[in-house]
Amino acid sequence: MRDAQPKAIQLADYRAPAYEVTDTHLRFELHDGYTLVHSNLSLKHNGDETELLLNGQDLELISIKLDGKLLSEADYTTAEEALILSNLGASHTLEMTTRIYPEKNTALEGLYRSGGMYCTQCEAEGFRRITYYPDRPDVMSVFTTEIIADAAQYPVLLSNGNPVSEKIEDGKKHVVWHDPHKKPAYLFALVAGDLQVRDDHFTTCSGREVLLRIFVEPQNVDKTEYALDALKRSMRWDEEVYGREYDLDIFMIVAVDDFNMGAMENKGLNIFNSSCVLANPATATDAAYQRIEAIVAHEYFHNWSGNRVTCRDWFQLSLKEGFTVFRDAGFSADMNSATVKRIEDATMLRTVQFAEDGGPMAHPVQPDSYIEISNFYTVTIYEKGAEVVGMLHKILGEDGFRKGSDLYFERHDGQAVTINEFVQAMEDANDVDLTQFRLWYKQSGTPVVEVLTQYDHAAERLTLNLRQYTPDTPGQTDKKPLWIPVQLGLIGHDGEDMEVRPDQPDFWTEDSQVLHFREAEQTFSFGGVVEEPVVSLFRDFSAPVRIHYQHSQSALRFMLQHDSDGFNRWDAGQQLMLHWIELAEKGRFKFTQDDIDALHTVINDIELDPAMVAYLLALPSESYIAESRPQYDPVAIHKAREQVMAALADTLSDDFKACYQRLNVSGDYQPVPEDMARRSLKNLALSYWAKADAEGVEAARLQFSSADNMTDQMAALRTLVAHGNQAEAEQALAEFYTQWQHDSLVVNQWLTVQCGSSKLGTPAHIRQLLEHEAFDWRNPNKVRSVIGAFANQALCHFHGADGEGYKLLADAVIRLNESNPQIASRLLTPLTRWKRLVPNQSQMMKSELQRIMDHGSLSKDVYEVVSKSLM
Ligand code: BES
Ligand code: ZN
Repeated sequence: MRDAQPKAIQLADYRAPAYEVTDTHLRFELHDGYTLVHSNLSLKHNGDETELLLNGQDLELISIKLDGKLLSEADYTTAEEALILSNLGASHTLEMTTRIYPEKNTALEGLYRSGGMYCTQCEAEGFRRITYYPDRPDVMSVFTTEIIADAAQYPVLLSNGNPVSEKIEDGKKHVVWHDPHKKPAYLFALVAGDLQVRDDHFTTCSGREVLLRIFVEPQNVDKTEYALDALKRSMRWDEEVYGREYDLDIFMIVAVDDFNMGAMENKGLNIFNSSCVLANPATATDAAYQRIEAIVAHEYFHNWSGNRVTCRDWFQLSLKEGFTVFRDAGFSADMNSATVKRIEDATMLRTVQFAEDGGPMAHPVQPDSYIEISNFYTVTIYEKGAEVVGMLHKILGEDGFRKGSDLYFERHDGQAVTINEFVQAMEDANDVDLTQFRLWYKQSGTPVVEVLTQYDHAAERLTLNLRQYTPDTPGQTDKKPLWIPVQLGLIGHDGEDMEVRPDQPDFWTEDSQVLHFREAEQTFSFGGVVEEPVVSLFRDFSAPVRIHYQHSQSALRFMLQHDSDGFNRWDAGQQLMLHWIELAEKGRFKFTQDDIDALHTVINDIELDPAMVAYLLALPSESYIAESRPQYDPVAIHKAREQVMAALADTLSDDFKACYQRLNVSGDYQPVPEDMARRSLKNLALSYWAKADAEGVEAARLQFSSADNMTDQMAALRTLVAHGNQAEAEQALAEFYTQWQHDSLVVNQWLTVQCGSSKLGTPAHIRQLLEHEAFDWRNPNKVRSVIGAFANQALCHFHGADGEGYKLLADAVIRLNESNPQIASRLLTPLTRWKRLVPNQSQMMKSELQRIMDHGSLSKDVYEVVSKSLM
């Protein structure tokens, strides 16, 4: 907790470290109630200054020796969360002992306990809670770690790198690990526990055998197969697509229950939130399987993009995160449907990232200042950062991009570098000038692109006039034009793409039809256009921008049925639906025959990937709708969307019933793309059918009680909660809890279904669940399942007229501020969006923010978000 105003760290203040730590030896003695950490650091001078700053937080310093000589308090200075040694020479050995209390660590940073085990989380600045150390990513060291613990309670003792030795003496187990690759402290990890392991092997492209091990609590061994499979596929993919081979003899994954994030890429020892790695058919949904596949890949890919080549400082976070998200998206696209993956990513960007970029926490992909770095693991750093890398890929092409990434890895292996050096490698490998492109990293805010088209029939000429601007964001005005790749197609009346070339053909090729829009206003033209085309813009979501272009309703219906670009096909449907919802809000909605015909074509298109059909028929979410408007009323949006959903369900109820019955085939559950696609459409059809018809509710009840897999059981439960009557919903929930109360991850899903429901997720119900035996404030997954689901999904209740929803969230933030600041701060996000709400809600939300501010003794995490939101 802080007393004074915390101060911001600036990118402009970056200084290289005065000392390197060439070797780091650590010895952990795990005792009941406390842990002793002995460190031995080899220091080497590196620069002009002779002062060494060691970070430390919540540590008890037992002893400190420089070159074997015990130091007294007069020999060093202590500053806030730091220890400083001055007037040092060229090389030294520094030895320290600190005492820490993992059992009291509720922030889940540094060394802490989860269930019966010990684990660590050091990114971004958690290592300083373990021992005094230059805890910054540009200090890279070779780590050797010894762990000593009670052999009976902690038979498994793990750290980074390869195992060196192991023995038991006087009931204590001693193990030593050595990691030959130098790394920053944020990649350090330690695990101790009574864990079971599942093993596998992988032979790398050069023929080396790697041992793969997943460690879990004993009851979870039957949930490890899929993650291992995803890991092997990731390892192969990174060899084939990026030429990256694994570099240790062993790769380990550990599942822990209490974890702030999804997973962490510690060198050779990835630590996972158990919800992001454990799955079996009976307990995990298809969505969970897909998330596991993506996260296992993501953390594995960090071995090169993050670990071998790391970040110079935390302003460069997107260097590893944006690039790695781009890499894991490529993997998921190759494993499943590329179009569906693109739809999911664009939806996430447009709902969550656009909202962030238009709100008080807006920041560039490379920020220039922060108060608490944990607040900057954002959708902007991750998802917008990945989009920026994706645009580089579009500009350079597959081969050019690969040349650039090869050069980047080769040139910077073993270094801590900047985003600029990444772009430089792309430039050097391709001989292009990316000066203007770099603005994507520096400018915050979502660019708006306005498009005008003009067709001259006599001249057979199409003209596109493009204008771009980026709105002001906190601390940033007068933005410059960006380099925006606009992938497009011109569709003729037969539904085929026309074969035309623009008069400005740079970068335009047969298979990537991209215009390079680089000025505030620019005109492109196409000759030989024999009929007026439908212009399909920003295909494949080629740039993270807001597009202002008004297609006619008939053009949208036409694209929904014919666009050869799957992404724009879906997007056309979403625009139609947004329009219907707007009409419903004005009391003027009614389907036209043309709408119905278009929907019929989609639902009955058996050639099309069923997962794609499911997306084409799903209404935009309430938050997506909100994000498409300058000001919004969440309750009105909810009502209008419900009305359109009911109309869609009624109008097509026979089709949905037939679709459900056609796809509801029995057979063994398998988490494979074709089956997942079929289930996604089947369960969407079930939900619409149940909305329209009691017979559909009956089908849901049958599916609920007979399902042999969680995908179908959960979909049926969700349908019963959404479309059944109160008694049906309550009974299904009660049965579900009785069946699954022993499995914490399934119970989380049970909590989410209720708390995120527009039927059940009222503040009163949430407060009740906070008292439920299954709830636990110390477990981040539980908090997210209840409060996170409520504030992000049950929008009509969260924004209820009495302000109870806001109050509930603020109470939770105040409570968690003390025990787990990171979770408190993340939970807070919905409260930061007050400015765009209708006046009543806006005022109530703002006063809850103020109440948090007035609470005092705020953590840096919460303080930063609340104070910026109130500005
Ligand atoms: N390096 C992060 C984990 C992390 C984030 C540690 C913030 C400390 C603070 C990891 O690679 C990551 O990005 N995990 C994501 C999942 C991923 C698939 C985007 C997460 O945990 O949500
Ligand atoms: Zn990551």
